[in-house]
Amino acid sequence: MMAIVEGVEIEDNVFWVGAKDYSRTIFDSLIRLQKGTSYNSYLVIGDNEAALIDTVNPGFEDIMEKRIRSVVEPEKIKYIVMNHAEPDYAGGIERALTLSKGAKLITTQLGSKFATLFYNIPQDRIKVVKEGEKIDLGGYTLSFIEAPMLHWPETMFTFLNERGILFTCDFFGAHTAEGMWSDEVEDIMYHAKKYWGEIMMPFRVNAKNALKKISGLDVKMIAPSHGPIYRRPKEILERYIDWSEGKTKEKVLILFTSMWGHAMKAAEIVASELVSKGVEVSMYDASIADPGDVAAELVDSRGLVVASSTLEAHLHPMTTLYLNLAKLLRPPLKYAASIVTYLWGTGADREIRDALQEVGLELVGEIKINVRISENEVKALKKIAEEMAKKVKG
Ligand SMILES: [Fe+2]
Ligand SMILES: [Fe+2]
Repeated sequence: MMAIVEGVEIEDNVFWVGAKDYSRTIFDSLIRLQKGTSYNSYLVIGDNEAALIDTVNPGFEDIMEKRIRSVVEPEKIKYIVMNHAEPDYAGGIERALTLSKGAKLITTQLGSKFATLFYNIPQDRIKVVKEGEKIDLGGYTLSFIEAPMLHWPETMFTFLNERGILFTCDFFGAHTAEGMWSDEVEDIMYHAKKYWGEIMMPFRVNAKNALKKISGLDVKMIAPSHGPIYRRPKEILERYIDWSEGKTKEKVLILFTSMWGHAMKAAEIVASELVSKGVEVSMYDASIADPGDVAAELVDSRGLVVASSTLEAHLHPMTTLYLNLAKLLRPPLKYAASIVTYLWGTGADREIRDALQEVGLELVGEIKINVRISENEVKALKKIAEEMAKKVKG
């Protein structure tokens, strides 16, 4: 399918005209991509006029243009909908506005400001739309749904009423170049969870509001701007409801940084004790982990155990990085425990305590180990695990 650069019809007169980026390995300078990503742009052709919904990342404008031209003369496009101003899909709006000279950019009030700031789009080429406003394309009508802070303040959704297709931009997104449809991608829910963890989790309240708004619509298809399209949206909708409500499992995430193996050993003692108590454990070496995987684990973990080496009398910087990430992503975690190993510098435990407090977690146990783990410290680590198990299972 991808050998020929042309639009893909996903529903009568609705085409995917985006781009697949198979080679991209990192996003937001933070999370790693195993299977690339996609920038989904959609073309809706009405009897009288056509609308382009979102565009592509900079560098993919030629591919988008070819796909558009394979379907329709660009002059027929009268509306270029910008659901979100971030360059991964709005990067092609300048090209789109050049191709379709008579077209207006459709966006929210804030979106119009961002379009000018980011892309220098003149205000006379922008039409601001409000909640519930409709655009008639002839046979097809688009409605606009304000969905702020998903994940920027200007974000909105677009709904194709006659077909029940909801275009949600980043919401329901997933980073993978694989598949046109979600049911073709075996691990789609993992990609979606990773995406939620990194992008949407800090905005759970806004997500809940948006989900409530769309619950009244007859949504037959969800077409996000990254990853595959959901032609059976039930599963992803259910997951999003759980994630937005902050539903956690009896699960503990263990993050360790270990220069000489002692912190890792301590983490392993806690892990096996937790497992023996029936708690699900996921464990990552913070120095080599993909922050995207850790973000995914944060989505439904109830407890966090941080085990860290001390480096030059401070908390190891890779541990600090993840504590900062946890603060930024605002996960639904509740409990934490801290393990620090040191030889001569003793301040790392305080740094962990301060950071965990900032994440808003209850500290259920802490220990400072002077290099090698003694018999008594093994007992103390098991006790910490026991306390943690009690909390996450309670
Ligand atoms: Fe975005
Ligand atoms: Fe994005």
